[in-house]
Amino acid sequence: MADDPSPTLDTLLQEGRSFPPPPDFAARANCRDPEVYARAEADPEAWWASWAEKLQWDRPWDTICKWTPPRARWFLGGRLNASVQCLDRHVEAGHGTRTAFLWEGEPGDTRRLSYEEMLRETCRIANALKELGIGRGDRVTLYMPMVPELAMTVLACARIGAIFSVVFAGFSAASLRDRIQDQEARLLVTADGCWRRGRVLDLKAVADEAVAECPSVEKVLVLRRGQGVETASAGSARDVAWEEIVPRQAPECPPESMEAEDPLFILYTSGTTGKPKGIWHCTGGYMTGVYATSQLVFDLKPEEDVFWCTADIGWITGHSYIVFGPMANGVTQVMYEGAPNHPGPDRFWEIVEKYGVTVFYTAPTAIRAFMKWGDEHPAGHDLSSLRLLGTVGEPINPEAWIWYHQHIGGGRCPIVDTWWQTETGGIMITPLPGLTETVPGSATLPFPGVGAAVVDEAGKEVETGGGYLVLTRPWPHMLRGIWGDPERYEATYWKRFPGRYFPGDGARRDERGRFWILGRVDDVMNVSGHRLSTMEIESALVDHPAVAEAAVIGVHHELKGQAPVGFVILRQGFEPGEELAQELIQHVGRLIGGLARPERILFTPELPKTRSGKIMRRLLRDIAEGRVLGDVTTLADPGVLDQLARMARERESEEA
Ligand code: PRX
Repeated sequence: MADDPSPTLDTLLQEGRSFPPPPDFAARANCRDPEVYARAEADPEAWWASWAEKLQWDRPWDTICKWTPPRARWFLGGRLNASVQCLDRHVEAGHGTRTAFLWEGEPGDTRRLSYEEMLRETCRIANALKELGIGRGDRVTLYMPMVPELAMTVLACARIGAIFSVVFAGFSAASLRDRIQDQEARLLVTADGCWRRGRVLDLKAVADEAVAECPSVEKVLVLRRGQGVETASAGSARDVAWEEIVPRQAPECPPESMEAEDPLFILYTSGTTGKPKGIWHCTGGYMTGVYATSQLVFDLKPEEDVFWCTADIGWITGHSYIVFGPMANGVTQVMYEGAPNHPGPDRFWEIVEKYGVTVFYTAPTAIRAFMKWGDEHPAGHDLSSLRLLGTVGEPINPEAWIWYHQHIGGGRCPIVDTWWQTETGGIMITPLPGLTETVPGSATLPFPGVGAAVVDEAGKEVETGGGYLVLTRPWPHMLRGIWGDPERYEATYWKRFPGRYFPGDGARRDERGRFWILGRVDDVMNVSGHRLSTMEIESALVDHPAVAEAAVIGVHHELKGQAPVGFVILRQGFEPGEELAQELIQHVGRLIGGLARPERILFTPELPKTRSGKIMRRLLRDIAEGRVLGDVTTLADPGVLDQLARMARERESEEA
């Protein structure tokens, strides 16, 4: 492969044990029938339609799927509203008093909200949005903490047919601005603050800075969460206080009847260029996919389960597996606002014990952090309520898998390692917990009805061995496009292997047909389960007056999976040094957000380039990770390498 992330492969192959579903789990699982795979495979469209039928449609569809590669449209002619699936349906079925959310704020404040209450509050917010002039097709940007109002605002937008776009609250003003501008949002919903490790971050100040350059934004709706924090610019004419407009609204709001293919939301994710892509998802297919996968992968039983997905709603995981999938299934969930180690490293386990969490979904990076913090933290809590565990976001190393299995799952809980992306909308490769034998490090098999394969450079299928992961047929919850850039959609996902979707990941198939995801094969890195573009960080570095040229790579990191390292060529008159390195790191944080801050900056007089002038990132990664250098004959100036390798070694011994 062109850019083989091989360190992952080495670690993945070391654990050979396999774990069949525990018999007592399998006996009660939502999916117990191994024939499900063959049935879905025989007629994928009928399979997906059987799930769509379980939703509440205002008008049935005429056509299940229209596939004109690379565009798919599902459930054409059908009409429905996404918020109805998540709220009204359960209330009408007599489950209104069931708890929807057990919410825990970081400082320890708590709230319990039933489905009925969620519906009423969502309607109030929807009516407030209407009063602010928002209607069908308008874009609304959400920049909010993890509070129930975030889920409600998402649902309120869906209710009136407005297209929402959640921007993770850790993103910078510039990132927020770019996203608002790209979607030309008319309204921004934010809060006066956001708790993080005992401190209140002034979200409103960031929002103000962003909105100053966003002429499309007519109003900013501000929720109070900061508890008295002084905001830099409270009281602009554009601001509307939540408490002044929402509580006085009627608690009913008729849902807009949306076409199945109408956009539901836009969510930005990093690609291989400097500009994040606005991935947009539609209403009918997306709801079908997240409903089905939630029910089968997490085995959700609304009467019994307490589900906790630890993601933030600012990421796709929170959209699909906090808001839409689990709520469409009517299950009770935990939502937590803050950091996993605040006030102590056992905060998550305290929450699991307190609320009796039964199904728990988190990222490998978090698991590695828990391992490092010590076994005593989970051991100090009663975790016996847990019955199923899941992971997402990056390849899980077998050591972390085994630790998760033993120390969190008590050796009795199946683990579902779920592979998917912002673009796929929902889980694509995963065990079914009552059916699939799992092996640490493998996401195992495509979800029923999903077509996946591993292919070589030429696009030929590899039965056993490594190559590129592709998806071979359309699925209902697939992205419908990149907002405002239809050509980029085709070029990014469908050009590399015509007729097949290329997610950008490398994968291997073993002799049992299982998939092992090896990580990105493009210039995208995965830092703590978050996708970052090397180009985006490079642009941020070059934005600094001291920087002439920069190359960014993702290097292996014990906790984060990968971490960005920047190689920087300085402009004349600037001297390399620790102070400048720190300044550059902070600069990236300011421009993109804290999550993109490079781990290290290495100053260099040159960058290794091919004769055609392309930066050889693989070599930079070898240097930064201290590996033996491979083939360098395409290098324009091999002398550059010695110099770079020496600098990296010096740097390391300084740190040691
Ligand atoms: O590289 C894959 C990795 O995360 C990428 C998608 O990132 P994002 O769109 O931010 O969505 C993350 C949450 C769904 C993929 O291209 N990835 C995700 N899940 C796994 C994974 N890599 C290996 N194993 C997984 N289970």
